[in-house]
This record gives sequence, structure tokens and C-alpha cells, in this order.
Amino acid sequence: MKHKDQVVFVTGAGQGMGRAVVQRFAAEGAKVAAVDINEEAVRETAESSEGEVIALGCDVSNSESVRQAMSKVKAAFGRLDVVVNVAGIGSVDEFAETPDENWHRVIGVNLTGSFFCCREGVRLMKENGGGVVINVSSSAAQSGEGPSHYVASKAGIMGLTRSMARELASTGIRVNTIVPGATNTPMMAGIPEEWMEAMINGIPLGRMGEPEEVARVASFLASEDASFITGQNIAVNGGMVFI
Ligand SMILES: NC(=O)c1ccc[n+]([C@@H]2O[C@H](COP(=O)([O-])OP(=O)(O)OC[C@H]3O[C@@H](n4cnc5c(N)ncnc54)[C@H](O)[C@@H]3O)[C@@H](O)[C@H]2O)c1
Repeated sequence: MKHKDQVVFVTGAGQGMGRAVVQRFAAEGAKVAAVDINEEAVRETAESSEGEVIALGCDVSNSESVRQAMSKVKAAFGRLDVVVNVAGIGSVDEFAETPDENWHRVIGVNLTGSFFCCREGVRLMKENGGGVVINVSSSAAQSGEGPSHYVASKAGIMGLTRSMARELASTGIRVNTIVPGATNTPMMAGIPEEWMEAMINGIPLGRMGEPEEVARVASFLASEDASFITGQNIAVNGGMVFI
């Protein structure tokens, strides 16, 4: 029961990594707010988790929606200890053909959405003198393999983490970035087989990661075992890219 009585806010909790993160923290004793734009999916996450989990519909790219979700967490649990920003989207666009709308949407969910949840979360964490933030980036931010908005949003998340880590260290808040490589979630389901094969050939451990492998690292970073780790990129990628 590593996270007994900790209150944890997890975005992108309707499926994939976010769902695995919710299930991990709940199984380890945390009270978890599972947050996703897809309300039905996040209800299923809550129902399939052991322990105390509430499902909250929220669009992380909308600051008012995030504020409302955070105030529901405060009302339900009275405090906040951990924010895990997992929600993310992609869009397949050639660079020179990228529509304004797709640029704004991807940056809006991945980067601005992480900022909104960090900002509201930190306001609550300051009330109890500390906490932990975990932002989820992507190995694409390092390799550049991906469309410009996605890669820029994920590189931006690394900068967001570092700035927060420095400024908030004196308030007892640690902030780190998990940098997943190819991971077996619904996001990857649509990828053509030959791309998948090429990708797996580039992974020294010879396979994709599982969402639970990312969730275990989130659990570690939120625990006292990681008490001297802040501002870091923690890669979970089977050796695909070395940080
Ligand atoms: N799967 C991979 O191989 C991989 C690799 C590197 C990084 N990542 C990153 O990891 C994170 C999780 O990936 P995944 O594969 O589990 O994704 P996924 O697509 O399976 O799940 C993402 C979840 O985010 C939710 N979401 C989307 N927009 C939202 C919004 N505006 N507000 C709230 N929730 C929203 C979706 O409804 C969905 O439940 C993402 O940030 C992704 O970019 C994934």
C-alpha cells in the first residue's frame, strides 16, 4: 500500500496508459480521480479498478473544465497529492500541409492541457505543503519521429517540467517527465503492420512496452523512493532512444 491515502489526479484515464496508471495507484491504496474527455470510458476505468476511484469528465484543453474537475477532487477527497498528466492526442499531418486547427488542437491538449492541470493541481498541493507532478512526453520529442505539432508539444512538456521543478522545489513539489517509447495501447492500434515491424526492430528489448510498465514508473516517481528526483526525463522505452 505504497500510496495509502494519497489523492491522485490522472488525466487520459479512459484507456491505455492513463487507465493503467489509475489501476496501479488505486491498487496501492490511493484515492484516485480518473479524468478523461470520454465520460463513458472513464466510468469503465473506475468500475474496473480496485479501491477508491471517482470518474470525472473533463476536457484538459479547457481551463474552466480543469478548474471544475479540480474543485470536484477537493470536494470529494479534501486534498491533492499527485497529478499525472497522461492525456494526449496525435494527428497525421505533413509539415507544409498542417492546418492551423490541427496545430492548435494537438498543442492545446498535449501541452496547454498539461499546463492547466499542473497549474490547478499545484494551487491545491500548496495547501498541504508538497506533492508530485508527473508529465507524460514521448520518445518522439527526442528522435523527432512524428508530426511537428506532436513532437513540439512533447518537447514543450519537458521544458514545462524543468521550469516547474526549479521554481517549485522549495514548496516541496517534485516534477518529472516520463518519456514512453512505443507502448501497446489503443493509440497504437491503427498503425500499419510494416511500420510496427520496423519500429520493433529499432527497440533493443525487441517489443513494445505495456501500459502497466509505464504505470509502475509513475508509481515509483510519486513515492518516497523517488524523494531526490526532480526535473528529470525518465525514459520507459526498451532502449529505443538513450536520453
Ligand atoms: N502509446 C504510445 O506508444 C505512446 C508513446 C509515447 C507517448 N505516448 C503518450 O502517452 C500518453 C498516453 O498514450 P496512450 O497510448 O495511452 O493514448 P490513448 O489514445 O490510448 O489514450 C489517451 C486518452 O486521452 C483522452 N483524451 C484525449 N483528449 C483529451 C482531452 N482533451 N481531455 C481529457 N482527456 C483526453 C482520450 O479520451 C483517451 O482516453 C499520451 O500523452 C501519448 O501521447 C504514447
